[in-house]
Amino acid sequence: MDWSELEQHCQSCQKCPLSDTRHHVVFGEGNRSAEVMFIGEGPGENEDLQGRPFVGRAGQLLDDMLEVIDLDRSKVYIANIIKCRPPQNRDPLNTEQDACIGYLRNQVALIQPKIIVCLGRIAAMRLIREDYKISREHGQWVEKAGVQMTALFHPAAILRDPRRRPETFQDLKLIQKKIRAICEHTY
Ligand code: URA
Repeated sequence: MDWSELEQHCQSCQKCPLSDTRHHVVFGEGNRSAEVMFIGEGPGENEDLQGRPFVGRAGQLLDDMLEVIDLDRSKVYIANIIKCRPPQNRDPLNTEQDACIGYLRNQVALIQPKIIVCLGRIAAMRLIREDYKISREHGQWVEKAGVQMTALFHPAAILRDPRRRPETFQDLKLIQKKIRAICEHTY
């Protein structure tokens, strides 16, 4: 599907029960020619109300994290594993992820990023490895289908435990290094 078809499908999706409780589908946003994608878990309350990814407190921290490595939302694409908010922000069920993941895969196919950064455990387990251990493996790199992949602690997890900040800062610096090594128009 092309962008407009994909977005239309997503906006009217009823593949899982989260469509009954959502206010907005959070499709994703940013640069559709981005070399770097950031993938979170799923919309929270603010995202559901506004229809945009990472607009709450965790989103403010994500903006700060991007700024640390001279990035901003205009240079990257930000999306989530699932596009509708789970009740009480619980972890997305496997059935919900299965129903939704095709949209993200289509976005990745259209964007063809060089780097995918998973934000948190859920995204890393879905996109890197089912048994990914975020506390042990964050900041490490793997290549999958020609795409360099890594994971950071989720910004909400950093807000809950600020001791994760120094490690995240180091991980961000490695992302910047990787961008400088393999990207052509992101700096
Ligand atoms: N947390 C996520 O994982 N994604 C968002 O869009 C917002 C908060």
